[in-house]
Formats: sequence, C-alpha cells, structure tokens
Amino acid sequence: QTIYLKDYAAPHHWVDTVHLTFTLAPQATRVLSRIAFVPNAENPGDLVLNGEQLTLLSLRIDGESVEYAVTDTHLTVAQADLPSGAFTFEAEVEISPQTNTALEGLYMSSGMYCTQCEAEGFRKITYYPDRPDVMGVFTVRVESELPVLLSNGNPVASGKGWAEWHDPWKKPAYLFALVAGDLIAHNDSFTTMSGKEVDLNIYVRKGDEDKCAFGMAALKASMTWDEEVYGREYDLDIFNIVAVDDFNMGAMENKGLNIFNSSCVLASPETSTDATFERVEGIIAHEYFHNWTGNRITCRDWFQLCLKEGLTVYRDQMFSGDMRSHPVKRIEEVLQLRARQFREDNGPLAHPVRPESFVEINNFYTATVYEKGAEIIGMLRRLVGDEAYYAGCALYFDRFDGQAVTIEDWLACFAQVTGRDLAQFQQWYSQAGTPRLSVTEAFSGDSFTLTFTQETPPTPGQAVKKPQVLPIAVGLIAADGTEVLPTTVLEMTQASQSFTFSGLAARPTASILRDFSAPVILTRDIDATTRAFLLAHDTDPFNKWEMGRMLAKDTLIAMITRNEAPAGDYLDALKAVLTDDSLDPAFRALTLGLPSQDDLAQTLFDAGQTPDPMAIYEAREALRHALAHHFADVLPDLFAQLDAGTFKPDADGSGKRSLRMSVLSLLSLIDAGKAAQGLFESADNMTEQAGSLLALLGAGKGEEELASFYAQWFHDRLVMDKWFMMQVATAAPLEAAQIVAKLTQHADFNAKNPNRFRAVFGALAANHAGFHAPDGGGYKLLADALIDLDSLNPQTTARLCTAFETWRRYDGDRQSMIRDQLMRILAKPDLSRDTTEMVTRILGD
Ligand code: ARG
Ligand code: ZN
Repeated sequence: QTIYLKDYAAPHHWVDTVHLTFTLAPQATRVLSRIAFVPNAENPGDLVLNGEQLTLLSLRIDGESVEYAVTDTHLTVAQADLPSGAFTFEAEVEISPQTNTALEGLYMSSGMYCTQCEAEGFRKITYYPDRPDVMGVFTVRVESELPVLLSNGNPVASGKGWAEWHDPWKKPAYLFALVAGDLIAHNDSFTTMSGKEVDLNIYVRKGDEDKCAFGMAALKASMTWDEEVYGREYDLDIFNIVAVDDFNMGAMENKGLNIFNSSCVLASPETSTDATFERVEGIIAHEYFHNWTGNRITCRDWFQLCLKEGLTVYRDQMFSGDMRSHPVKRIEEVLQLRARQFREDNGPLAHPVRPESFVEINNFYTATVYEKGAEIIGMLRRLVGDEAYYAGCALYFDRFDGQAVTIEDWLACFAQVTGRDLAQFQQWYSQAGTPRLSVTEAFSGDSFTLTFTQETPPTPGQAVKKPQVLPIAVGLIAADGTEVLPTTVLEMTQASQSFTFSGLAARPTASILRDFSAPVILTRDIDATTRAFLLAHDTDPFNKWEMGRMLAKDTLIAMITRNEAPAGDYLDALKAVLTDDSLDPAFRALTLGLPSQDDLAQTLFDAGQTPDPMAIYEAREALRHALAHHFADVLPDLFAQLDAGTFKPDADGSGKRSLRMSVLSLLSLIDAGKAAQGLFESADNMTEQAGSLLALLGAGKGEEELASFYAQWFHDRLVMDKWFMMQVATAAPLEAAQIVAKLTQHADFNAKNPNRFRAVFGALAANHAGFHAPDGGGYKLLADALIDLDSLNPQTTARLCTAFETWRRYDGDRQSMIRDQLMRILAKPDLSRDTTEMVTRILGD
C-alpha cells in the first residue's frame, strides 16, 4: 500500500498525556497504557490507533468497556462509541521482545532490553496514533529486576525493581525509548549557558567502560557548540546515551535517552581507528543536535524527514569542521555524497529529498534525504549569507518550538528574514536527480566570461526537469599563481547563463564550484596542464584536491579504455603534493587516494560505455603499482617521518596516520611487506595495526598477521567486525565469493547481528570487481543471504538490496544474472514489505 504526501490529513484525535507501565519479561512483557485523548475539532472522526504484533489483553475508555475493531495493523473505535469530549483510553497488551529479531519496537540485545521506534516502531509496543504530528507528555514506569531502568526525560522516583521517568516536553511516539539492563555508567556533568547542571551518562555493558571517554568529550563539545553557534541550550536534568550491540542504523535521538549502535559510540585507541573516532564524534553530535532540530521541533509527517535529517547532518558537518579541518571534512563529505547519493540519484532508486510517496518509510532513510538534504541547507546558507542564515534559524526555533512542521514552514523563515522569493529554490526538495553543469570560457579585451548550462536527466516518475537555483562559487587565478578574483558566489537560476568579469590584464584560469558549492556534476573541458596548474595553485582546498582527482580519473579512464600507460605528468604532479611538507598531511592523503572502482564504473557509463569491472580493477591495481614505483625513492623516508608519536585521535595525529597508511599501502607493493610487517608487530593503536594489516592484504600478503589479529582480538566484537570486513574488502575479484562463503561458516559469524552481517555482505557489495565477478557468484551469494535475512530483519535486508541498484550500468550477461537474482528474492514467500518495495523499484519497468 502506497502512502502519498498529497493525502496528508490531520488526525481525528490529539494526545495530551501518556502513562505507560512496562512489566518486562523476555517473551511476555506487559504494557499498560493510559492515554488522554482530545478530539480534533477541525477533523472529527473515529479513534484510529496503530498496533502491530500486539496481544490485546484489555481495553477501556473512561473506565468502561467499549466496542472496537482490531486488524493486523489498527485498532478503531467508532466516533459514535466515543465520549463527546476528551477521554481516557486504557489498554494492556503483551509483547515478546526476545523473539523480535527485526530490532524495531522493544527488543533484546545481549541480555538488555532496548527500543527503536523511529519511524514506526512504537506501534509494535502498544496501540497508539503512531504519527509524528501527534505529540504527548509521557510518564513511564519500568518494572524489572535488572539494575538499570531508563526512559525519556527526568527520573522521578525509583525503588527495588522499578523506576519512573517523566518527560516534560511533549513529543511524538517515535522519540520514545526504554532501556533495561545490567549496565555501567560512565558519568560526567555539563553546566549549560544559563547555569543549569546536567547529569551525563554513557551506559555500556561490563567490559566496555574504558571505551566511553572519547564519546563523553564529544558530547560535551557538542553541547557547548550548539550553545555558541546556534544559541541552543539543553532542556532536561539528565542526558543519557546507551550502547547497544544489535542495531539497524547508527544511532537514535530519543528525547534525553539516545540509543547508539555500539560501533558508533565506543572508542579506544587500541580497538578503534581514527575513522571510528571521527565517526563517533560526528554521530554523537548529530544525535545531540536533534534535540532542537527534530525533537523540540519535529516533522509533521514522514515526507518531511529531511526537515530534521538534512538540517541535522548539516549541523554535525559544521561541528566536525570546527573540531577538525573544514577543507578535509568538505572533501570527505563530497567523496561520500558522490559515492552514495550520486549513485542513488543516477539509478532506479532516485527520489526527491522530500519524496512524494512511499510504501515503507524505513526505505527512505537514504543518502538523498540525509546528505543531499544537508547540501540544500549549505546552498541556502551560501545564497542568503551567514547573518541571514542564523537569523532564519533563530526565527524557526522561536516560531515553531513544540510543533510538528513542514519544509514550507522552514523556508518561510528564510523568505521572511531575507525578503527573497524561495519558490524556485524549494524545487531542490521536490526534483530528483543530479544536475549536470557544463561551462565554457571566453576572454576578450579585458573581460572573461563564463557561460554555464545546466540540465538534469530524467529520474523514475520525473521525465521533465526544470532548472535549479545553483550557487556557483568561483575564483580567478593569474598565470603567476596569484588570485585576481577571490571566491565569489554566482547565482544561476536559468538553463543557461553567462557571467562576465572585467578589468583583467590577461586571461585568467578559473576555479569553478569552489568548496563544492552545489551538488552537481560539473563537466569542463580543460587540459591536463590546466588541471595540474590548479592542483598547484588553487587557493580553494576543495578544488585543489578536485584537480588531482580529475587527473587521476582521466589517467585511469585512459588506462582502462585505451590501454595507455599512466601519464607521467600526473605522476609528477601527485609526487609534488605527496612531498609538499607545507600541506596538511590529511589533505595529501586524500589527494593520494584513487577514485573508487564504483566511481569509475559510473563515469564510464555516463560517457556512454559499458564498464568492465575486471578491467577497472586491473587498471586501478596497475596504477597503484605505477605510483609505488614512481614514488619508490621517497616512500621509506615519508613512512619514517610521519610517525605521529603518542596516539591522539585529533585532526593532527589522524592526518599524519592517514598519510602514513597511504604511503604504507604503496610501499608494501615494493618492499615485500617489510615495513607493514614491522608496524603490525609494533603498533600500539588500531589505526596502525589495521592499517598495516590492510596494506599487507592489499599486497597479497598478511595470512599470518590475519591469524594473529584474530588470536589477539577474538573477544572484541567491534574489532572482529573489522577482521571480517578487511578480508572481504581486500579479496581478489575471483576469490571474493569463496572467501565470503567461508567466512559465513565461521563460528563468529552471526547474521542476526547487523554489524556482523554488514561487515561481510556490505563489504562484498563494496568490493566492486568481486561482487561483479563474471560468473555471477557474488550476486547469488548476496541474494541467498538476503533471502534468509529477510525473515529475521527486513530493514537491514532492504538496505543491502541497494548493492544491486547500479545493475543497468553493466553488460547484458551481468544484467540478466542480476535480474534473475532480484526475481528470485521477489519470489520468496512472505517477503517483507521493505524488501518488496526495494527490489520492485530497483527492477523498474
Ligand atoms: N533518526 C536517526 C538518525 O538519523 C535514524 C533512525 C532511523 N531508523 C530507522 N529505523 N529508520 O539519527
Ligand atoms: Zn538524524
């Protein structure tokens, strides 16, 4: 059944207060609810409550029994059977957390109870109007013999075997949370800008206490940042975070009780890489920032998901930039955006940032909603300027606090503050697809003219596209490398538009789309010499990196399609960056990084060619070897110099290690693995331990190290996820399927744990040549695993179906093998709604 944005209607009843009592038992938890309903005078009707997989034990309205109808999904009381005004609804239901492998609603993970209600999980806990525009004040009593009993808001009272919580802020049911377990708190406190003391806790299982300090520091930094940058203060006496091993996503912003996938909160130098530290910092910030962008102001309906997610991603990105390095962060964001969002936007799953319809909302927690949603906020800010941006945000917080609102409400604040008409800009929310922007340059007299043309290709359901508003940041650079025009934002609104710069002594070199100022694919006809010039002289770090990337791409495409040797100019330009000590090591590492195989496949496809995964793989390996040989004289010294000393997970240390690991991975191709073996033996941190192991595996070595890694870490599930993942990620194309099949037989493989499942099958999907191996073994293996997983966990199954979203890029043989597997998944009896929707959309028509 498809739900449409255009069909939105307010509920028949609003909620005032909610009282819940949970009597926890693994297979027979009782949930007693007392809900004060108020009829919606503007839309009177039946009382319609959602409810799934519940055993109803009793039901009363104002203390009396009443007629009702129950289906698999709803409980309805006819308007005629309801009291005329406000009333109290009471019900008791029974649920079974222990058998809940979907990890949605109330479930158990390693002996603890926990919840995940977003988007529509609360209906698996009790009967309720489970929609975000219905907001209530919750009081929750938890009864269990487990020592730690938590829910949203502030603690009210507790005794042996029970605890009571009250959340004074009204909220939609998707923000409800409950946790019960034998947990240890890492405790701290924070004084808010108005002087209120907040108790902070990160709750973890025994044995994880020593992995909380970094997350706690990130939480305090986030609280300070939101006060200083957005003027937003925390609003409860307590803020709790709980780490859970079995979790479908990264984390969840439940009011006052954030629940995290343990992989996104636990961190220690010995067990976590720099990338993990960075991710933990970003996700802690993200969930904390939701307290204002999501919780205090929430979404009217799930079509508005980007209202909270795009904005909150944008906020966490700015935070991470402030904590670390803005240029490095921006390059990482663009890499992600291109790898995930552009891929989505250019395939059968393309959808607007605000979708117009869905079957299963969980399928729309996508890179488009999150990352493109964040890009829209960034463009808005660039167009209106910092001052108006913050003024618009302040107006938004002020005007809509305590409400469930829409994208129109958000944009109206900026229209009001700036006096701008944002009608065309709003198209970014409704028009899917990545605009292609092309540019030509002309110089005459003292004037330089840039002429831009934009075009967005059709996407499913949207054949005809309109021009978007594009903020295009440009700068001009003279032949001697000096900047003659500092960064200037051009505002493009038409299909084709020219911008002229006068008073120039000579023809400049343009630096276009600085800081990646709009999420578009820019095509520009410039030669390798100009690219190398910009790589050396551009003052915009993003474009400087971008020029290196384009050179790498051109080199690889020439190697793949014309069997050419790697261009010497490119190798020299790259060497200059590699050895330039004046550049940030993190930036040098990013410049050294090669475009992914998936990126190359898309690039070839866009150029009208059929990508051959084996040829792409081989060219990329050949280029890695060419780089290693070309840099042979500098690699050993660089490796030695880049020792960051005592481990600190900050921007400086991680930047050095990042470059050091890039150097090591090349060095391992020419030193028989000596340096990597040495580092593997001596490393005192996971970044270098895993980095050296990866370097060895990437050079076809490391068997012994892999075994000793296992012996050292078999007891640590998050490190073991890496052990599984690294083997699949580095598997040679023709061996990948076999390695995956073997790993799924390993005693430590557990398909019920999403992290472990993704460590193996997510890594298979990401091993481009391995997944697309000519015999179709990768496709079949993944399809088998998805068919099995669907009965246990539809959400994670549906998400991994995206491995197939690019199928139309490839040759006829591969297309028909993939189609067969998709049809086989679709034919599974009782396939979940989640997976059915995804596979159907991927197949298209
Ligand atoms: N709101 C969460 C976040 O972005 C994501 C939760 C999504 N969960 C889901 N089952 N769809 O932080
Ligand atoms: Zn979020």
